[in-house]
Amino acid sequence: MDTISFAGDGLAADLIPSEELADCAATALGEDGSRILSYGTGSGYTPLRELIAEQLQVHPYRVLLTNGWLQGFSLLVRQRAQGQNAIIEYPTYFGALSALFGAGANVIYADLHEDGLMLQQLADQIRMTSQKPVLAYTIPTFQNPTGQTLGYEQRWELCRILLRAGIPTVEDDTFGFLRFEGERIQTLFEMSGQATIYSTSFSYTIAPGLRVGVWVLPNDLAAELSTRANDTYITPSLLGQATIYEFMRREAFEPHLIELTANLKERRDTMVAALEKHVPDVSFVRPEGGIFLMLKLPPGTDAKGLLDRVEGVTALPGSAFGGYPHTIRLNFAEPALDEIEPGIERLAAALTLEPVAFEGYN
Ligand SMILES: Cc1ncc(COP(=O)(O)O)c(C=O)c1O
Repeated sequence: MDTISFAGDGLAADLIPSEELADCAATALGEDGSRILSYGTGSGYTPLRELIAEQLQVHPYRVLLTNGWLQGFSLLVRQRAQGQNAIIEYPTYFGALSALFGAGANVIYADLHEDGLMLQQLADQIRMTSQKPVLAYTIPTFQNPTGQTLGYEQRWELCRILLRAGIPTVEDDTFGFLRFEGERIQTLFEMSGQATIYSTSFSYTIAPGLRVGVWVLPNDLAAELSTRANDTYITPSLLGQATIYEFMRREAFEPHLIELTANLKERRDTMVAALEKHVPDVSFVRPEGGIFLMLKLPPGTDAKGLLDRVEGVTALPGSAFGGYPHTIRLNFAEPALDEIEPGIERLAAALTLEPVAFEGYN
């Protein structure tokens, strides 16, 4: 039996516009090969930086393009958070968490519940620490691992708390463009009058293998991180960035997003229908975009124990992200569409197994 995976962070191959990207790469090399194949600045491919700067209405100097979002975050936390306090929502994306630990930051947590971020707890944590956090990190839209989105009022309140405390906030908008229903909510970057550090990635909107992360930084930090990038890898890989630039220049991005989000919606709908049919007693928040959905089993159930015993399907327990042990994160973008219902059926079989009590994080 082939294993069906809901466990990864990736996208199914049919969601990646590979033929068009091959053509974009060839055009980019043909038209700007001497620049793309040479060393450049630490900040990334200038035409793409300029294009993004124009879209976000900032000076291109503030835009840094890194080899994927995670490398940018790693540069940032190594620059600013070594031995310092950093405050994050929890559970969160484990790549960000391990970058923070790798940089030697002291991580302070504010809980993210089903009804949103515990803002009072966040404010209390900030007030109680003897050393003010040097940064806050949040994924307000279609969060990893919960799939949740922070509502409009909560965003305002979050901005107000962090601005008043003078804590630079990193907004990770990696999934923000993947909305397939409901109304778009302003980013923290927009709400805060560009005071927030905005970041996103082309990993889900175009292709993860191109490795292009986007950062919009205050001037001083843009200069520091460009130098740090320069010291670390001289220039980020320019071919992926130039390919994305060409993809945008020929106006392929918007139509691609429309098709991609329609495909993601179909996958979300298929997963929701399968869950309602095969595991009607399990609750979950229905995401309006992104790629993740989180299942909530009865409290006290050890989701990891169940997943370890199930056959033919993989998924990650919420505890892998610091979330509740009775939760399971499902990625509906990685399996093929016709694998989703059989995968949920296999998962449903596991849920009928004798539950085991949670014995601690490991
Ligand atoms: C919230 C979040 N941010 C960033 C990333 C990584 O982006 P990149 O592939 O650009 O490093 C991921 C990948 O899973 C993610 O879940």
